[in-house]
Amino acid sequence: MTNEVRIEQLRETALQLKIGDYTRHVFLCVGEACCSKEQGDEAWKALKDGLKARNLSLSSGPSACYRTKAGCLRVCMGGPILVVYPEGNWYGGMTADRIPQFIEQQIVQGVAIEEWIFAKNPIG
Ligand code: FES
Repeated sequence: MTNEVRIEQLRETALQLKIGDYTRHVFLCVGEACCSKEQGDEAWKALKDGLKARNLSLSSGPSACYRTKAGCLRVCMGGPILVVYPEGNWYGGMTADRIPQFIEQQIVQGVAIEEWIFAKNPIG
Protein backbone atom coordinates (compact mmCIF):
# COMPACT_ATOMS: atom_id res chain seq x y z
CA MET A 1 0.00 0.00 0.00
CA THR A 2 1.45 3.36 -1.00
CA ASN A 3 1.07 6.61 0.84
CA GLU A 4 -1.11 7.83 -2.04
CA VAL A 5 -3.55 4.96 -1.58
CA ARG A 6 -3.59 5.49 2.17
CA ILE A 7 -4.32 9.19 1.84
CA GLU A 8 -7.21 8.43 -0.53
CA GLN A 9 -8.65 5.99 1.99
CA LEU A 10 -8.27 8.59 4.73
CA ARG A 11 -10.02 11.18 2.57
CA GLU A 12 -12.89 8.80 1.92
CA THR A 13 -13.22 8.07 5.63
CA ALA A 14 -13.15 11.79 6.40
CA LEU A 15 -15.96 12.32 3.91
CA GLN A 16 -18.02 9.58 5.54
CA LEU A 17 -17.40 11.13 8.96
CA LYS A 18 -18.26 14.59 7.57
CA ILE A 19 -14.93 15.96 8.77
CA GLY A 20 -14.83 19.45 7.31
CA ASP A 21 -18.50 20.18 8.06
CA TYR A 22 -18.28 20.67 11.82
CA THR A 23 -18.48 23.90 13.74
CA ARG A 24 -17.50 22.36 17.08
CA HIS A 25 -15.38 19.55 18.43
CA VAL A 26 -15.91 18.17 21.92
CA PHE A 27 -13.31 16.10 23.75
CA LEU A 28 -14.58 14.25 26.82
CA CYS A 29 -12.09 12.61 29.14
CA VAL A 30 -13.20 9.28 30.55
CA GLY A 31 -9.84 8.48 32.17
CA GLU A 32 -9.96 7.03 35.64
CA ALA A 33 -7.62 9.64 37.13
CA CYS A 34 -10.35 12.30 36.93
CA CYS A 35 -13.55 10.25 37.36
CA SER A 36 -14.73 6.72 37.94
CA LYS A 37 -15.07 4.39 34.97
CA GLU A 38 -18.83 4.38 35.52
CA GLN A 39 -19.04 8.20 35.53
CA GLY A 40 -16.93 8.43 32.39
CA ASP A 41 -18.89 5.77 30.53
CA GLU A 42 -22.23 7.31 31.48
CA ALA A 43 -21.12 10.81 30.47
CA TRP A 44 -19.83 9.54 27.13
CA LYS A 45 -23.08 7.68 26.44
CA ALA A 46 -25.11 10.78 27.33
CA LEU A 47 -22.98 12.92 25.01
CA LYS A 48 -23.10 10.43 22.14
CA ASP A 49 -26.82 9.73 22.45
CA GLY A 50 -27.69 13.41 23.02
CA LEU A 51 -25.85 14.60 19.92
CA LYS A 52 -27.31 11.80 17.80
CA ALA A 53 -30.85 12.45 19.05
CA ARG A 54 -30.60 16.08 17.91
CA ASN A 55 -28.99 15.13 14.60
CA LEU A 56 -25.82 17.05 15.50
CA SER A 57 -23.53 14.06 15.04
CA LEU A 58 -22.33 13.05 11.55
CA SER A 59 -24.06 16.18 10.42
CA SER A 60 -23.51 19.66 9.06
CA GLY A 61 -24.97 23.03 9.91
CA PRO A 62 -24.39 25.66 12.57
CA SER A 63 -24.44 23.24 15.53
CA ALA A 64 -22.82 20.19 13.94
CA CYS A 65 -20.48 18.67 16.51
CA TYR A 66 -17.69 16.13 16.27
CA ARG A 67 -16.97 14.18 19.45
CA THR A 68 -13.89 12.42 20.75
CA LYS A 69 -13.52 10.19 23.79
CA ALA A 70 -10.18 11.00 25.40
CA GLY A 71 -8.10 8.94 27.80
CA CYS A 72 -6.55 11.95 29.55
CA LEU A 73 -6.60 15.73 29.09
CA ARG A 74 -3.87 16.19 31.76
CA VAL A 75 -6.08 17.81 34.39
CA CYS A 76 -6.72 14.54 36.26
CA MET A 77 -9.17 15.77 38.88
CA GLY A 78 -12.74 16.96 39.09
CA GLY A 79 -13.90 15.10 36.02
CA PRO A 80 -15.24 14.06 33.76
CA ILE A 81 -13.29 16.86 32.09
CA LEU A 82 -14.64 18.20 28.79
CA VAL A 83 -13.26 20.79 26.38
CA VAL A 84 -15.14 22.24 23.43
CA TYR A 85 -13.57 24.03 20.44
CA PRO A 86 -13.41 26.57 18.89
CA GLU A 87 -14.48 28.30 22.11
CA GLY A 88 -11.86 26.46 24.13
CA ASN A 89 -14.15 26.24 27.14
CA TRP A 90 -12.91 23.70 29.68
CA TYR A 91 -15.66 22.17 31.77
CA GLY A 92 -15.28 20.19 35.00
CA GLY A 93 -17.62 17.72 36.67
CA MET A 94 -19.34 16.79 33.42
CA THR A 95 -21.32 13.85 34.68
CA ALA A 96 -24.14 12.45 32.55
CA ASP A 97 -26.80 14.57 34.27
CA ARG A 98 -25.11 17.77 33.00
CA ILE A 99 -24.74 16.68 29.39
CA PRO A 100 -28.28 17.56 28.15
CA GLN A 101 -27.95 21.15 29.39
CA PHE A 102 -24.44 21.34 27.91
CA ILE A 103 -25.73 20.23 24.50
CA GLU A 104 -28.65 22.64 24.57
CA GLN A 105 -26.81 25.68 25.89
CA GLN A 106 -23.20 25.40 24.67
CA ILE A 107 -23.63 23.40 21.46
CA VAL A 108 -27.03 24.53 20.17
CA GLN A 109 -27.29 28.07 21.55
CA GLY A 110 -23.55 28.78 21.66
CA VAL A 111 -23.81 30.09 25.21
CA ALA A 112 -21.18 29.01 27.72
CA ILE A 113 -22.25 27.65 31.11
CA GLU A 114 -19.86 29.81 33.10
CA GLU A 115 -20.38 28.18 36.49
CA TRP A 116 -19.05 24.83 35.15
CA ILE A 117 -16.06 26.31 33.29
CA PHE A 118 -12.65 26.33 34.98
CA ALA A 119 -10.45 27.54 32.07
CA LYS A 120 -10.73 29.16 28.66
CA ASN A 121 -8.42 28.76 25.69
CA PRO A 122 -10.21 29.87 22.52
CA ILE A 123 -8.64 28.81 19.23
CA GLY A 124 -8.80 30.91 16.09
S1 FES B 1 -7.67 11.25 33.39
FE1 FES B 1 -9.10 12.81 32.85
S2 FES B 1 -7.80 14.54 32.64
FE2 FES B 1 -6.39 12.96 33.13
